[in-house]
Amino acid sequence: MKRFRTQVGIVGAGPAGLMLGHLLHRQGIDSIILENRSQDYVIERVRAGVLEQGTVDLMNDVGLGTRLNREGLRHDGVYIAFAGARHRIDMAALTGGRGITVYGQNEVVKDLIAARTAANAQLHFGVTDLRVTDIEGPEPRIVFNRNGEPYEIACDFIAGCDGFHGVCRTSIPHELLRTYEREYPFAWLGILADAPPSSDELVYSLHERGFALFSMRSPTVTRLYLQCAPDEQIADWPDERIWSELETRLSTSDGWRPNQGRIVQKGVTPMRSFVAEPMRYRRLFLAGDAAHIVPPTGAKGLNLAVADVCRLSNALAAYYKSGSETLLDQYSDTGLRRTWRAQRFSWWMTSMLHKSDSDNPFDHQRRLADLEYLVSSRAAMTSLAESYVGAPLD
Ligand code: APR
Ligand code: PHB
Repeated sequence: MKRFRTQVGIVGAGPAGLMLGHLLHRQGIDSIILENRSQDYVIERVRAGVLEQGTVDLMNDVGLGTRLNREGLRHDGVYIAFAGARHRIDMAALTGGRGITVYGQNEVVKDLIAARTAANAQLHFGVTDLRVTDIEGPEPRIVFNRNGEPYEIACDFIAGCDGFHGVCRTSIPHELLRTYEREYPFAWLGILADAPPSSDELVYSLHERGFALFSMRSPTVTRLYLQCAPDEQIADWPDERIWSELETRLSTSDGWRPNQGRIVQKGVTPMRSFVAEPMRYRRLFLAGDAAHIVPPTGAKGLNLAVADVCRLSNALAAYYKSGSETLLDQYSDTGLRRTWRAQRFSWWMTSMLHKSDSDNPFDHQRRLADLEYLVSSRAAMTSLAESYVGAPLD
């Protein structure tokens, strides 16, 4: 058994774990990041791509803004479409100049891995059989195998940044953990296409046949989603069927429609709302998808993960500087408040914009009335804009 020691052991090299490692490094705190997948897998994984203003500001503040400022697409507004018409919500005008930036999560991950490598800090991919032990005591440990050899890392703290299916959350005694969950009776079929985006801003659309979303990754790549069944088989969706459905659900009477191009990636994303509380057990802290999942309609998943690790790194920095545990003690409660705000918004966007098989005609009319109100009331648009651009980081 090879034994090592670090201040903070980080499980998972998604955006939460990598960003935490970066923030800690800047504070002079030592960490080791352990990931069970390969580096290529983590980088190639196609995920969401909307950064809130606070996430962009943080990236700039911590030296990660160069490529983001060059390649990220800043949006001041967003479209909501229904009944054949598109309605623009001017987020910047309604929130004192705040907006969102489209920059793929995998680009964020690439920048973070580059920063970790440049800092010569420890990041290990492809570890197996990882477990956390001794979490009751003052020196929790992470054990795992790497290249067939067993390792043990003794830590002051462990950060569980290992996503929804990780091992950290399930290491907390289950009688101390309360979970809240909702599954949705639909999913999203997402594609990436080599097609220049035909709109400068995102279009969220409710059609009689279901939800569709127009998004993008770059001036030459469009990202599109269709509401589908949770058990939808991608094999049932040849390219022509996807384009025909997107065209039907997205085209508006002003003549706007998505540009078509070669489809380079297809996948089905399940939809779930999930919260675990508390986000801490003794010296184990949960961050990101390990602690909470939101349906993608509000584009909050990555941003919540960033907010968690920003708070956690500040709390750890305060502890190492002065011995104060005040911020560590507040970590969970503060995080849960932000999480529930994001849950509320993501649930609301999802319910307003999706059709469900259990809907009756009343539900459909009520949903249209909700949308009518949204796009005709400055107060309602301000409310959406405020949540969509996100609250400043704590
Ligand atoms: N050991 C080591 N690593 C693990 C283990 C394990 N037992 N289990 C999971 N992991 C890794 C996963 O392979 C993944 O790379 O933890 C990482 C968790 O990363 P994400 O799932 O990306 O979660 P997070 O970093 O919290 O980021 C949240 O991801 O799901 C999206 O939309 C969500 O944008 C949000 C963001
Ligand atoms: C995306 O571009 O992948 C995207 C955009 C907005 C969302 C979800 C995903 O709400």
